[in-house]
Amino acid sequence: MSTPKLLAQALPSLSLASKRTAGSIARHVRCSTKPSAAALPAAPSPSPLGLRPPAWSTAMQSRAFSASAAVSHGHVHAPKPGEELYVTFIDKEGAEHKIAVAKGDNLLDIAQANDLEMEGACGGSCACSTCHVIVTDQDYYDKMPEPDDDENDMLDLAFGLQETSRLGCQVVMTPELDGLKVKLPSMTRNLQSSDFK
Ligand code: FES
Repeated sequence: MSTPKLLAQALPSLSLASKRTAGSIARHVRCSTKPSAAALPAAPSPSPLGLRPPAWSTAMQSRAFSASAAVSHGHVHAPKPGEELYVTFIDKEGAEHKIAVAKGDNLLDIAQANDLEMEGACGGSCACSTCHVIVTDQDYYDKMPEPDDDENDMLDLAFGLQETSRLGCQVVMTPELDGLKVKLPSMTRNLQSSDFK
């Protein structure tokens, strides 16, 4: 008796045996020696209509690395040519970082987009003091809109508070502030308004 017929007799419980070709039965026997499905990583379910596997399964096999410019991080904008405003951050080590920025961006977003050490624990919602900056020039401080009550409450919690302290997330760059210089304090105190509820 031929091998395919012997295999078909050896597998009587397979109701499909009579419909399968001898070749497909032989493949079934070979496959049964492979590890169980539980031991293998999950695979996408086969499509009953013979459609292609879902896009994510092929995308995961061929993901490419890409990098983006700092201005596309966070919420900062690229300044238009000729409309750049400049702000300088003095970090904890005393190094100065002069950055060209666009009107409307705030100091927290600018610092984070340029990998400067400003935590911004509350995400810029004026509910912590980890974006504390000290304006180095009183004239620039006077050009800024007055801090509102929420900002003053949070500033009261800031480490090393000074007369010209502000919260970076509340200082928005305008043409009047072109040339602004701010110092990052040596420490921040991570107290949030929620700590007092
Ligand atoms: S990030 Fe929390 S107050 Fe500015």
